[in-house]
Amino acid sequence: MVIAIDGPGGVGKSTVSHRVAEALGVPHFDTGSTYRVAGLAALESGADLDDPDAVLDAIDSARVDIEDGAVTFDGEDVTETIRTTEIAGAASTVATHPDVRERIVAWQRSWVDEHGGNAVVEGRDIGTVVFPDAPLKIYLTARPEVRAARRSGDREAAGKSTAEIAGELAARDHTDSTRKASPLRPADDAVIIDTSALSIDAVVQQILDLAHGLS
Ligand code: DC
Repeated sequence: MVIAIDGPGGVGKSTVSHRVAEALGVPHFDTGSTYRVAGLAALESGADLDDPDAVLDAIDSARVDIEDGAVTFDGEDVTETIRTTEIAGAASTVATHPDVRERIVAWQRSWVDEHGGNAVVEGRDIGTVVFPDAPLKIYLTARPEVRAARRSGDREAAGKSTAEIAGELAARDHTDSTRKASPLRPADDAVIIDTSALSIDAVVQQILDLAHGLS
């Protein structure tokens, strides 16, 4: 069974998804890292990020492995490297191309298959596109100022003011939610949780209650 957890950056998606997966004893798959490593592959190969064929070539010639949250690219551990603002921007750009998304979505589905079919999968389009039949779909939101404050602890935010972080989040939200291919939006049957005033524990518990209600 797949539990889909979608939402914009800074809502606590990764922490919540990781904790839910741990409690359920299933793998956690952060699909943002698939777009980030695609962005890294494109940058390293010198591909024009706006050229879908060049990006696809870069992805196809990269050897990528994602296991237990650790990401390797051509044998090198890039788990931390892909957390920079530069890579986040590249990820957001390559993620606008339908052909690139198609390739990456196929890879995401195989990852879940290869891991036994049970997983907590987090992203932007998991409930709408990647696993539209997931029995539990969660969409996390939070007020912009809360998201910016939460992001301030991340590597991407090092040395930046909260206003700068808020500006970057807003720009990325705009790219992610206005792109034609699989824009960021809740699935019609998603449970929407506003995490602004909730602790991580409370959000995790709410999702676990919903998951236990399925069986
Ligand atoms: O969650 P994140 O910040 O690591 O995601 C990086 C970028 O990848 C994000 O700006 C949009 C893209 N993305 C996507 O288009 N679809 C997903 N399922 C996950 C991420």
